[in-house]
Amino acid sequence: MKHKLKVHRLITENLSSRVAESYRVLRTNIQFASLDKPIKHILVTSTGPAEGKSTTTANLAIAFAQMGSRVLVIDADLRRPTMHKVFKISNPLGLTNLLLQSVALDVAIRDVGIPNLHLVTAGPIPPNPAEVLGSTRMRALLKELSPSFDYIIIDSPPTLAVADAAILSTIVDGVVLVVAAGEVTTDAAKKAKAQLDGVKANILGVVLNGLASANGEDRYYYYYGQRKV
Ligand SMILES: Nc1ncnc2c1ncn2[C@@H]1O[C@H](COP(=O)(O)OP(=O)(O)OP(=O)(O)O)[C@@H](O)[C@H]1O
Ligand SMILES: [Mg+2]
Repeated sequence: MKHKLKVHRLITENLSSRVAESYRVLRTNIQFASLDKPIKHILVTSTGPAEGKSTTTANLAIAFAQMGSRVLVIDADLRRPTMHKVFKISNPLGLTNLLLQSVALDVAIRDVGIPNLHLVTAGPIPPNPAEVLGSTRMRALLKELSPSFDYIIIDSPPTLAVADAAILSTIVDGVVLVVAAGEVTTDAAKKAKAQLDGVKANILGVVLNGLASANGEDRYYYYYGQRKV
């Protein structure tokens, strides 16, 4: 990314209200994405690296928490975990400890200083992330966590690079695909979408990230419906 920032910017901080509003639009779109079955477990992924997955995960979670929903963010990017950095907490233990050891849930579910919002950081990186994320234990963990939260939002690695996101997409209600505008070829984005379609992922929509506004202000997010992919 040309104007890469060192810090992840959260809509609790000094982002323009237009940026915050675009996350609220994304939130609303997800809320109304399914009439039959409410979307509760959401996976955020992208085609390639550094497209804005973690930023989207965090800000979408904040947008849900700000409307009073109980929200849990899980860092399932066991390749390059960053959610603990985004929310500025440590990562002594987390998801991998819950999956591979008998760590109590309430030890791994952490406060991040934002009302209604909790985080399970990634924990130590295992040698076999895809296997760990595809385990029956992961499915069971999500089920176990489910009653305590209105929304569980999961950050993940890029779809084209590794199988992790495709694997996770099969245990969530829907997937948000983040696309960095101008950084990813249409072909690569289509390939990523085809990969998710291949495992019957419910793609809720695409976040086109990094659009420069006409007057050169902050880049911000737009939400496009699935049909525009
Ligand atoms: N719309 C935006 N405007 C400005 N900066 C942004 C925007 N989206 C993301 N960034 C910055 O770009 C960098 C990469 O974003 P982020 O970490 O969210 O991407 P990612 O897809 O999770 O990356 P990775 O593949 O490494 O997990 C971060 O420094 C983030 O602050
Ligand atoms: Mg990330």
